Amino acid sequence: MTDEGKTPPTWGSEAKGLANRFALGSGVAVTFLLFGLIVVPALLRERRPLARPPSDQPAAASVGWLDQAEAPASKGRDLPPVDPATVMTASPQLLARGEMLFKQNCSSCHGNSGQGNGPAAGTLNPRPRNFAQPADWKRGFHVTDIFTTISTGIKGTGMAAFDFIRPADRMALVHYVRSLGGFDHGAEDAKALEALANQFRSTGFHIPNRIPVSLAITKLVQEQTTVPALQLPPPGDKSAAAELLRFAIVDPSRAARTVAATANHDDRTAVARAWAAGAPDNGFTPAVAGLDAAEWSEIVRALVGTKEEARQP
Ligand code: HEC
Repeated sequence: MTDEGKTPPTWGSEAKGLANRFALGSGVAVTFLLFGLIVVPALLRERRPLARPPSDQPAAASVGWLDQAEAPASKGRDLPPVDPATVMTASPQLLARGEMLFKQNCSSCHGNSGQGNGPAAGTLNPRPRNFAQPADWKRGFHVTDIFTTISTGIKGTGMAAFDFIRPADRMALVHYVRSLGGFDHGAEDAKALEALANQFRSTGFHIPNRIPVSLAITKLVQEQTTVPALQLPPPGDKSAAAELLRFAIVDPSRAARTVAATANHDDRTAVARAWAAGAPDNGFTPAVAGLDAAEWSEIVRALVGTKEEARQP
């Protein structure tokens, strides 16, 4: 069939075509309009984060301890009583909650199965405890001991106080930590256990005030003599050394103070340990714990070298 064989379209059929196209076009427009008015706002509502996370729990999407610098300020408060029966002995619910909290807050150092071999454990001294065996525990592995360790930390070590975790949640962690050790944890001290149960019964627990670490640092800086921020290599610099520095340093002004506060830069191993243990509050990423000796040497040389060059006339 050829074009010549076709009858030319009459005015009527052309108008009909136009009308059809118009109907189709406005149908599409109405669909888009409805989509924009109903579906999009609903999606946005769905995705909007909670206005404010509850003050006694890590923020949603938080990685816990590692995320402290980003934690919102929250006012300290007394907590309502908790029935000790719900927290003093392990239950499947407590263990499941404990496992979730452990992954968020503890496994970076203690390892996923609690053997003290998390990614950040490498340069810590003392090393994170191995929960799978009974040797080397300092405070002890009874329920009340572990509760105290989580609540107050161990001074001078990487084991921080997790006092921002609700006491009931700390108990979930206690039971989970104990479940990671297949050994006999021995009899509990009945008096210590009763004292802890009483604390849960009363309003004896208090969540401390919390100000964002950034604010605390700002205040500290105002009190101290200021150290100029480290100059990171520009993003255009793609050399391995530049990439390494940009990877290691998350906050150039905090890192500058860390470098300035380190008395002896010659013992690279000691420097690496100290800087890794203080991360991320000291301006370095916690991931520096995974760097090798050569990479550390490179970082220390770059940072201290920069300082010395700056001092020259
Ligand atoms: C930044 C690394 C780090 C993180 C995160 C961490 N710990 Fe530790 N933890 C350590 C180190 C290091 C030690 C060993 C301290 C010592 O030997 O004095 C330790 C020791 C312990 C001990 C043993 C105390 C004893 O009696 O010997 C317990 C229990 C414990 N941690 C529980 C936890 C729990 C639960 C969490 C999560 C809420 C946690 N830790 C998070 C580093 C960490």
